[in-house]
Amino acid sequence: MEPGVWQEIGELGASICVEATAPQDERPASSSGEFWAPRIAASRLLVEGDVSIAGKEGYRPEIQILGKPAAVSFSRTAGGRSCVIRDTGRVGIDIERRTELADANGMLEIASSRDERDRMFAVFGEDSSNAVLRVWTAKEALLKAIGLGLSVDPKSVELSDIGIAGCQSRCRGQQFRVSWFECLAFLVAVAGD
Ligand SMILES: CC(C)(COP(=O)(O)OP(=O)(O)OC[C@H]1O[C@@H](n2cnc3c(N)ncnc32)[C@H](O)[C@@H]1OP(=O)(O)O)[C@@H](O)C(=O)NCCC(=O)NCCS
Repeated sequence: MEPGVWQEIGELGASICVEATAPQDERPASSSGEFWAPRIAASRLLVEGDVSIAGKEGYRPEIQILGKPAAVSFSRTAGGRSCVIRDTGRVGIDIERRTELADANGMLEIASSRDERDRMFAVFGEDSSNAVLRVWTAKEALLKAIGLGLSVDPKSVELSDIGIAGCQSRCRGQQFRVSWFECLAFLVAVAGD
């Protein structure tokens, strides 16, 4: 996908956007709501005041567009930001920079079950860095969609039907679809019910 361009996710009825930020090796400092509110407004041909974003630290962000609640999720990483927005339902996003990780196998063991690892390697090849980034972004996006974040052990969430484009997960009694996107040097996962 192209940076700075909103892309529709048909199966979720959501749109996502990824932006590169400078400096490339630093996580952007300003809050996500402040950054994304004018961009969300512009994408819907509205003015900035039509979009209000609130939320306490550690909790799911809240958004209203022209006074009507919608669902939104944000993520920041070194050199990039991402946002997903959806009119109804739950949604979560996570962005990570694609890179070789020094202890990818150890991280993979912390974040995934043996079945998940076998399936990731079968689909993507024996690349532990790629596998852990995909597992991690998928679970973080899911846990944000539920509103819990990483207060939950990622291993308690099981990914199923893992394929090139995404996976499924049954979490807290609800079925979620996770899709992965690549943009510039970033991997982004979006989860929705
Ligand atoms: C949510 C969490 C996974 C974010 O991880 P991260 O890698 O540090 O940061 P990301 O950039 O990917 O995401 C940050 C965004 O997540 C969102 N977020 C924070 N807590 C969230 C939650 N519980 N549910 C959904 N989204 C949440 C915020 O919009 C935040 O935006 P900001 O950029 O304005 O701060 C992590 O901060 C966490 O688990 N925090 C603990 C949550 C917790 O214990 N909450 C208690 C009540 S349930």
